[in-house]
Amino acid sequence: MQENINIKLVADLNDRQLNQLVSILNYDQKLRQSLCSQKKEITVKTFNAKNNAWAKNNQAKLYAIMNKTHAIGMISLSHINLKNKKANIGYWLTSRHWGKGITSKAFKQILAIAKDNKIKYLTCTIPKDNIASLAIWQKFQAIIKQKGENIIPIIRL
Ligand SMILES: CC(C)(COP(=O)(O)OP(=O)(O)OC[C@H]1O[C@@H](n2cnc3c(N)ncnc32)[C@H](O)[C@@H]1OP(=O)(O)O)[C@@H](O)C(=O)NCCC(=O)NCCS
Repeated sequence: MQENINIKLVADLNDRQLNQLVSILNYDQKLRQSLCSQKKEITVKTFNAKNNAWAKNNQAKLYAIMNKTHAIGMISLSHINLKNKKANIGYWLTSRHWGKGITSKAFKQILAIAKDNKIKYLTCTIPKDNIASLAIWQKFQAIIKQKGENIIPIIRL
């Protein structure tokens, strides 16, 4: 399956693919629990509006994780600071596909995009108990720092 994994700008998704992401966010209970999602269901319209506002306020580029033409998750570069060559990475994947190496594959692709954009330092904040998330950063030789209950990994490209 991994060879079919790519990332695509959310702005370039068609309606069917946008609906796939919205449906995961609304009905994937395991994912919702991990993301601490509130009960309220979202529509494609509110999804787009929230994404656009978030991307604008956080200097972010949002990508969908694609299995062939199917949107199955999201990965983002945010807090992009071209002067300091820094950015953050965030991601989620439908729980149906956890543990298959898919996010690691998408992560490799977002690192390549970061590099193309002259970003040198990537980081994020990971709760200590999120073993899978931390394992992704470790796979790409991140330096790991601890801050209270969180882990701060840093990748230097
Ligand atoms: C975190 C998340 C994106 C991982 O996605 P994934 O596609 O399952 O990750 P991968 O399959 O690429 O696995 C990454 C590593 O984690 C390990 N892993 C995956 N699930 C695991 C689990 N439940 N327990 C321990 N390790 C796990 C894998 O073995 C792999 O390490 P390895 O290659 O060294 O063996 C997914 O669990 C998710 O969407 N979680 C909810 C949202 C979230 O937590 N986002 C990150 C916030 S910091």
